[in-house]
Amino acid sequence: MILYFSGTGNSRYIARKIAAELDDEIVNVGDKIKSGNNDPVKTNGRLIIVTPTYAWRIPKIVEIWIREVDFQGAEKAWFVMDCGSEIGNAAKYNLRLCVDKKFEYMGTAQIVMPENYIAMFNSPEKKVAERIVEKANPFIKKVSDTIKAGNPFKKPRNNVYDRFMSSAVNPLFYKFSVKAKPFRANDKCVSCGLCVRLCPLNNIRLEKGKPVWENNCTHCMACIAHCPTEAIEYGKKSVGKPRYHLD
Ligand SMILES: Cc1cc2nc3c(=O)[nH]c(=O)nc-3n(C[C@H](O)[C@H](O)[C@H](O)COP(=O)(O)O)c2cc1C
Ligand code: SF4
Ligand code: SF4
Repeated sequence: MILYFSGTGNSRYIARKIAAELDDEIVNVGDKIKSGNNDPVKTNGRLIIVTPTYAWRIPKIVEIWIREVDFQGAEKAWFVMDCGSEIGNAAKYNLRLCVDKKFEYMGTAQIVMPENYIAMFNSPEKKVAERIVEKANPFIKKVSDTIKAGNPFKKPRNNVYDRFMSSAVNPLFYKFSVKAKPFRANDKCVSCGLCVRLCPLNNIRLEKGKPVWENNCTHCMACIAHCPTEAIEYGKKSVGKPRYHLD
């Protein structure tokens, strides 16, 4: 079974490719979280967890959901983490999760995909993004082949910087950087409700046809990146930046 979480489509793209290669079932964790569904999940013994990297680890909301759910029959778990550039020492925390869940840890693979984090950095223009995805395709195939053969992934890089980012910086990032308050919709908003439908945490509602953000946000970038009229800004950080999503 392939579990994936995706704000802007990169992880879904990878999950679908792996699912096709392995002829395996695919489950959208974002939908489960959105609907508050923590029911037991029956598996075929193999879990492949595909996620974006959030501050050098898998997204906190995904880890919480995995911890809460009973994965019946699950024996082995592979982690596939896409990122703009690096996953740090995420492997340590994925291993810890496996120990707690009694899964055999089969490793963590890094796949570089287009950066989506426009609340902090820049996303690439369409053409550049396409080239990054093209470059990622052989790595996705390699990952699929490794899983198909039942082999573990090679250990990712793990230097002092990686360890520092995943351990000390990750919690500070959630505490100080992940806020919904700067989100605003401007006059370009056509009240389509897509941002409301896409938010995995139900953090957005329409008031008089315009989106209003509460405080329960994980910075997945789904709302701001998918808005069809580019009406959403994150304070001044996102102004003039290309919106990126893959689908
Ligand atoms: C909140 C947040 C934190 C991120 N942290 C990292 C990071 O630590 N390292 C990195 O290389 N990319 C980071 N990124 C970039 C994403 O991991 C990357 O673009 C990913 O492929 C997006 O996947 P998605 O389209 O499935 O949401 C971050 C993006 C967001 C939104
Ligand atoms: S997705 Fe954009 S246009 Fe649609 S309701 Fe949200 S802000 Fe308005
Ligand atoms: S408010 Fe936007 S960025 Fe925050 S969790 Fe919802 S969709 Fe993601």
